[in-house]
Order: sequence, then C-alpha cells, then structure tokens
Amino acid sequence: MWIYLNDRFVREEKAFVSVFDHGFLYGDGAFETLRAYDGVFFSLREHLERLKDSARAIGLLLPALPFEDLLRNAMQKNSLHEAILRITLSRGPGPLSPSPRGCRSPTVVIFARPFHPPPRRWYARGLSAVLARTRRNPAEALDPRIKSANFLNLIMARREAERLGAQEAILLNTSGELAEGSTSNLFFVKGKNVYTPSRKAGILEGITRNVVLTLARENGIRLVEGCFRPAALRSADEAFLTNTSWEIAPLTRLDRAAIGTGRPGEVTRRLIRLFQVKVREEVRASSTARLNSVMLKGRSRGTRPERRMTSSESEWSGISPGAEKRRRSDRTGDSP
Ligand SMILES: Cc1ncc(COP(=O)(O)O)c(C=O)c1O
Repeated sequence: MWIYLNDRFVREEKAFVSVFDHGFLYGDGAFETLRAYDGVFFSLREHLERLKDSARAIGLLLPALPFEDLLRNAMQKNSLHEAILRITLSRGPGPLSPSPRGCRSPTVVIFARPFHPPPRRWYARGLSAVLARTRRNPAEALDPRIKSANFLNLIMARREAERLGAQEAILLNTSGELAEGSTSNLFFVKGKNVYTPSRKAGILEGITRNVVLTLARENGIRLVEGCFRPAALRSADEAFLTNTSWEIAPLTRLDRAAIGTGRPGEVTRRLIRLFQVKVREEVRASSTARLNSVMLKGRSRGTRPERRMTSSESEWSGISPGAEKRRRSDRTGDSP
C-alpha cells in the first residue's frame, strides 16, 4: 500500500513516524475518516472543513496541502474505487513534554484502504449497544466536537460494550443525558418524531448525522434535537446509529433489551433508502462532471471513456461478488 507521509508517497513498509511524535506520545492531533464510493469522495468539503476546525481548536495549523488531489492519488496509487480514507494530522516530533512548543512541523499521513462493509445482518437485524459507565468528556475538558487523535475516552466506553458482547457503547454526558456512540451518532424514533442529541449534549457533529438531518428536513420527517434521558431511548419505537462507515445502522437492543419490536423499524429503513439515493446522486453528479471534463480533453485526442457502474448501484443491487465476499467477515466496519 502507498501512503502519503509528510511530503511524498511511500510504501507502507517505509511509512514510519518518529517515536517522539506528540501524536504518539500524547495523542496530540486530529483526523478525518471519509468514504469514496466508486472513486467519488462523499461529503469531502464537510470533512475537510471539520479537519480544519479540529486543527484550529487544538492550535495546529492545517498545512496548505492539496488534500483532494492527495486523497485521489492515494486511491489511484492503490487502485481503489471503494475505499475508506484517513487523513491524520499530528503535532509532530518534539521534546519529551506535552507542551507543543518544541514541535516544529506537524506530521501528515493520508491513506486509502479497501472498504469492508459491516456484516449484512447488522442491517437486517440491527446492532446491540450498552449504556456505558464511561461518560463523554465534557466540552470544558475536551470539546467532543474536535475529532481528536486522542480516543481514550471513547475506547474506554467501547471496551465496556465489547466486554458485554455488544457492538457499540452509548455514552452519556456528565449530566446523565444521552450523548453519542463511541464511534457513532445516536438517533431514536418515537411516534412520528425522530430525536437526536443536540450539540449541547456534547457530541461530535457527525458528517453522516448532518446528512440525516438534511434528509429528514427535505422529506417531511420531523426531527427534534435536544437533551434526552436514557429512558427516552429505552422506550423508543426504533433507534439507529450513524457514521461514515456504517452509514445508517439500526440499533435494536440496548443493555440486552429490545428497542421497540427489536427489529429495524420503518422510519430507519426509510432513512437508509434515502441515504442510498443521496449517495447515488452524489456519485452520479460527480461522475458526470468528471466524465464531461475527460470528454472535453479526450475529444481532442479522439478517446471516449466508459462509464463504470457506481458502487452503490452494484453493492446495493447485490451485483458485486467482491463486496459480498468482504461482507462475510465479521468485521465491525469501524473506521475511525
Ligand atoms: C465519537 C463519534 N461520534 C460520531 C461519529 C460519526 O461521525 P461521522 O458521521 O462524521 O463519521 C464518529 C465517527 O467516528 C465518532 O467517533
């Protein structure tokens, strides 16, 4: 695998970071994880914006790099179309002190890996979660809106979930209100309303969450953002979790008890369909734009590019045997 490290692409075997990098020593850094569907980056602008915000929040200057080109090169050099990509930005090497003062140049790592979809049964039957004892760190301690390279708060919660055989941990904030999953945002449905913890509850504002908010708004689904107690989730009709890699995953069990019927609900399934359409539209729009520009260039050379089937078209129509094979493994599909 080719990896972009600081100023060039190197082979994975040569992609090493200093042991004095403050990202390694202190978790001092920020990152983004994004998806490419058939070579098209989903919500790229939003991911780059969030990376800039995270970097700014920790006082790290985002290097002036052509991130889109680098992400594209990371895909092309590794011959990928369906990928999960990560940009990591760390404080860089420095003295043995958490002070960032002596760190002269940040470390930048960009890589693209083949996307492994979560197991199909997650969508057919839903995920199980536990309410973690670990609380989400309050904004006054470390703002959860920063997509920080320091994941220990979330790792502690995830360990609790995995010890109890659940896939995800739901963290409460320090006031005992629902915040978010260890790698996901939380939604639940009661009657005709969809509820989700607001920014005030102390969450990472997921890019997928924002897409769901927009989809709900555009499709007449009433969405309420606020601060909610765990009882609201326990008595919900349906629930689901969102992140870049899972997209929208039904949540059907909390602390071993069924949420609603214990099966993925109607509203969740509707939003999953709407999300798939949104991805397809974004891929189509971007592919058409790319095709047009290639056609314009190609016309002078007399070439005519072929249109490939988009991943969403192939994956969701069950055509892609490669995707099915990858799905077999019981990976979590995690991407952070
Ligand atoms: C704590 C936390 N909340 C929410 C999310 C979902 O964010 P996104 O939809 O941008 O992937 C993540 C993703 O890793 C996360 O780590």
